[in-house]
Amino acid sequence: MSLDRSVDFTGIRFQNPFLLSSAPPTESESNILRAFDAGWGGVVTKTIGLHPVVNVVGAKAKFMRTSPEDAYVSMKKRPGAALHSSWNWELISDKTLDWWLPRLRRIKEAHPDRVLIASIMAGSGNDKELQNWQRLARDCQDAGADGLELNFSCPHMDRRDMGSNIGKDEGLCSVVTEAVKEVARVPVWCKLTPATAEIEVEAGACFRGGADAIVSSNTFPSLPVIDPETLEFEINVDGQVSSGGLGGPAILPLSLAKMSQMTRAYPDRSFSGIGGISDFGQALSYILLGCGTVQVCTAAMLDQAVGPNVIKRLLAGLDAFLERHAGDGWTTVEDFRGLRRDRIVAQSEIRRPDAADYHAGHEVAEGYAPAN
Ligand SMILES: Cc1cc2nc3c(=O)[nH]c(=O)nc-3n(C[C@H](O)[C@H](O)[C@H](O)COP(=O)(O)O)c2cc1C
Repeated sequence: MSLDRSVDFTGIRFQNPFLLSSAPPTESESNILRAFDAGWGGVVTKTIGLHPVVNVVGAKAKFMRTSPEDAYVSMKKRPGAALHSSWNWELISDKTLDWWLPRLRRIKEAHPDRVLIASIMAGSGNDKELQNWQRLARDCQDAGADGLELNFSCPHMDRRDMGSNIGKDEGLCSVVTEAVKEVARVPVWCKLTPATAEIEVEAGACFRGGADAIVSSNTFPSLPVIDPETLEFEINVDGQVSSGGLGGPAILPLSLAKMSQMTRAYPDRSFSGIGGISDFGQALSYILLGCGTVQVCTAAMLDQAVGPNVIKRLLAGLDAFLERHAGDGWTTVEDFRGLRRDRIVAQSEIRRPDAADYHAGHEVAEGYAPAN
């Protein structure tokens, strides 16, 4: 039986289910072309907006490591330390829409068989901002983007009507999605912030607005640690820092929990998983929870900026997995997608060694002897 890496996700055909997420690996034409040459099935561009963007001085993203010797999570490089996470306070692309459009066109012409998704962002405070979303959507799809990813998730926006502030408000999630769907001829994905209690509520609002898929997670709100010697944040400008985003291995279990909340609530909908993926094993967790594609940022940044070895490992891992399960009749991702989605249940449903002693946290009814 022949193995097939390709997937159909929101009506788009991908050669494989592995994408570079919206971030530094997809911030330029040359990076995206290198990514396609390396074998990525798709890319989501660094988020494109219409408002002026000025990043803080100094390093945009840093990497935290920990080691068996000190068990300390720090940006300081030490021999033998393993990657714990990435930390960033980078804003969206500082290039204009006019800079991006000819590049989207050229990338698509060079790689018609690869998937190019444009990540876009505007505000939501008034009709003009909704029209900005529509302009970004129209222009990017006219330039050849195969789909749109709406950024409702950037964790460090100053404006109350942008980024994760949209993703925390179910009303805004619906309204913005609906505005984009009015003009979109290509599939529309919404990238949600993980910084809400019940992410399935915002996912539902996006679906009501017409979203074709939900993407999660963006980075988690976080601070760098304070150096015990200098008493300064490990990353700062003039001693000051703001909340930034945590990505990489540390967020894998957190992001899986968020994803499972949504895939259980909407088992028939499409989801793209992100967070802590560097190898097929982690991608598999997202697929088994129901995701049809997965995306990578931190691991790719640390592998020649666009992850040529990461995509090689992901593809080899998928091939080996399909070969190992040929006896089960699995030939595509669709054959095992969602297989573990229903294994997440309420605590009270987990079997106890002695069920008779378990009262789900409730006292035995007053006036009755314990049952045994
Ligand atoms: C430096 C940096 C910049 C990022 N910029 C964006 C962005 O412009 N738009 C966006 O949707 N996500 C952005 N992200 C989030 C990533 O796309 C991704 O959701 C997150 O890093 C989690 O994936 P990971 O664990 O593979 O890093 C950025 C992440 C980093 C580290």
